[in-house]
Amino acid sequence: MAHEFMRLQVWFIKHKTAVKSMNLTEALETLRSIRKYKDTEIEEEKIRKALEAARLAPSALNHQPWRYVVVQDQDTIEKLNYACNQTWFVPAMIVGCVDPSQSYVREDGEGYWKMDLAISMHNLMLAAWEMGLGTCWVTAFSEKEVKKILGIPDYLRVLAMTPIGYPVKEKPPVSKRKPIEEIARYEKWS
Ligand SMILES: Cc1cc2nc3c(=O)[nH]c(=O)nc-3n(C[C@H](O)[C@H](O)[C@H](O)COP(=O)(O)O)c2cc1C
Repeated sequence: MAHEFMRLQVWFIKHKTAVKSMNLTEALETLRSIRKYKDTEIEEEKIRKALEAARLAPSALNHQPWRYVVVQDQDTIEKLNYACNQTWFVPAMIVGCVDPSQSYVREDGEGYWKMDLAISMHNLMLAAWEMGLGTCWVTAFSEKEVKKILGIPDYLRVLAMTPIGYPVKEKPPVSKRKPIEEIARYEKWS
């Protein structure tokens, strides 16, 4: 029995599938930006599950202004690399767009579309992580170039993208963060 379990674990490790499911705390403590990926293909079902997590995110007035483009064509990824001035050797990129006209705008003019997209994309990243897939927020790119490459219409903004794939190696858990005392106060600021 133990032998059978070991054999199963080895199979999982070989196929880079999550060995065990992750609870939320574990995911939050270990989610890191992954910048080196294996060229192992990602199962279509996993991409779908990540998109499903993005879809489930909350948004202001439930307007859900996010839109995504999944890119798996390597020539297109190469062009995106050029627009990012980076070299992502990765099986897929997911590009996060948003339609500001579909989002909640506060009385003082503050639009919440960036926030909506960020929540949705982070949902996607956490879901990917649970499935053993790494991601990395990428915001440093030419929006104009990315729009041209992907045929994204003018009314959408391209705010972020993420590579998605199996990490080459494990990274240590999250550590470089400010202490709670520096980022939170109770009852009043002063
Ligand atoms: C809004 C946002 C934008 C970011 N943009 C980039 C980027 O353009 N390129 C990049 O390599 N990393 C980018 N990052 C990743 C951060 O550098 C990273 O999350 C941070 O340094 C903490 O490292 P860790 O995620 O490994 O813990 C971005 C992260 C966020 C949240």
